[in-house]
Amino acid sequence: MRIIKIFDTTLRDGEQSPGATMNVEEKLQIARQLARLNVDIIEAGFPIASQGDFEAVKKIADEIRGVTVCGLARALDKDIDRVGEAVKNAGCGRIHIVLATSDIHLKYKLKMDRDAVLAMGIKAVKRARNMTDDVEFSAEDATRSDWDYLCRVTEEVIKAGATTVNIPDTVGYTVPQEYSELIDYLMNKVPNVDKAVISVHCHNDLGLGVANSISAVLKGAGQVECTINGIGERAGNASLEEIVMALKTRPKFFNADTRINTREIYKTSKMVSKITGMTVQPNKAIVGDNAFAHESGIHQDGFLKERSTYEILNPEEIGIPQSKLILGKHSGRHAFKDRLSALGYQSLTEAELNKAFERFKTLSDQKKHIFDEDIIALITDEITKASDIYSLSSLHVVSGTQHKPQAKIKLSVKGLEMEMESAGDGPVDAVYNAIKELTGTKSELKKYEIKSITGGTDALGEVVVMLEENGCVVRGSASDPDIIVASAKAYINALNKLAGICRTIKKGV
Ligand code: KIV
Ligand code: ZN
Repeated sequence: MRIIKIFDTTLRDGEQSPGATMNVEEKLQIARQLARLNVDIIEAGFPIASQGDFEAVKKIADEIRGVTVCGLARALDKDIDRVGEAVKNAGCGRIHIVLATSDIHLKYKLKMDRDAVLAMGIKAVKRARNMTDDVEFSAEDATRSDWDYLCRVTEEVIKAGATTVNIPDTVGYTVPQEYSELIDYLMNKVPNVDKAVISVHCHNDLGLGVANSISAVLKGAGQVECTINGIGERAGNASLEEIVMALKTRPKFFNADTRINTREIYKTSKMVSKITGMTVQPNKAIVGDNAFAHESGIHQDGFLKERSTYEILNPEEIGIPQSKLILGKHSGRHAFKDRLSALGYQSLTEAELNKAFERFKTLSDQKKHIFDEDIIALITDEITKASDIYSLSSLHVVSGTQHKPQAKIKLSVKGLEMEMESAGDGPVDAVYNAIKELTGTKSELKKYEIKSITGGTDALGEVVVMLEENGCVVRGSASDPDIIVASAKAYINALNKLAGICRTIKKGV
């Protein structure tokens, strides 16, 4: 069985989704979880883009062991040196160079001819090889490049020292048959192809990112680049969980597997969704809320007689909690800690545990039944908290058929208590007006979404908002049994992100 390397780019290409910008601490939290998931390579960012991205790549490279940590660079000396600096203390550090090879990019973007681009690629790879033994070269827009030119570039960058050559479908243009033929062509035409790993990186503009990636695995691709929940530029990247589970579910067909610890998938998906504020659609394969829900009577009947009639995957393999009624009002700290351990949260600091326990106690006063999903929501809230400027101290809302909705809110602003009262069309509107006045924010609310985490009227409500200010888009999220409180917290979370992340707008690739 071939082992396919999983190159996770949630922290780089995933972060290029509008509003998914993460701060250093958030990236570090996700990187730790990606290490538990056992990915082979973490692409942690694009260090030249901003000081924050440089720091994130550096901190991840300094801390995470057992996983290759990679940073992206254009084929420019200053980019390559910046990545070299960021990953210099990594156990295994990789420099990833991207340079376009399609005529359309050469003519309009680079304004260079094929020979000049080839020379630039070779020079860049050689420079990077002076800093690390692990260099990846990506032929941007490979699927719209001339196949023979792509073969020439691949051969030459391998000669220059590239250890991985990536063939990206940058604009999500290809289809499985064509892409697998292209990979096959390279495998047969590039004389030194066996000296490097051929990697694939597919975008999802036509909804074919995963299909294209696995079609390439069948032709010998040894690395797949993907993101958690399929987040990424435009329609996103191929989703890690779908690729991994496709290979795992059909071993005889693919004769290939990965090293991924699949039981960490669900938790990773929840964490990424929480931190980026990008909710997962209910019918999303593997990690969507409905991925294992059997609705039709015929299906339910068959499933109850024999699970394999209608279920090809076991939710436990993905680490999906079985909605067990686990703890209640009288459960102590010990039981709470044990349950967290069973859910895979063994490495919390004492301070994180204490805060989470406090929140659990408050929740158990408000909500009779506490499920694993509630615990995951609560703990993810705690460990992903940004260093906040604003925090909610108290909230009082009056609404109903007889009253114009009115909100009185107390915020702590850099440690200083401030209060405001406002009216609105509804209770959320009143709260948001009060927060707006209090913080003086000029941001525009682009999106407001609310959903419940489990069933029942006492379920935790999860709110996601999207704010925009001066072209910088952020998402904020929060959960609470009171949906007005969750709404206030989500707005405040987004404002904290705006203040923290958008001071320097970074360049994407
Ligand atoms: O889509 C793309 O081409 C990229 C490269 C940087 C690999 O993201
Ligand atoms: Zn990409």
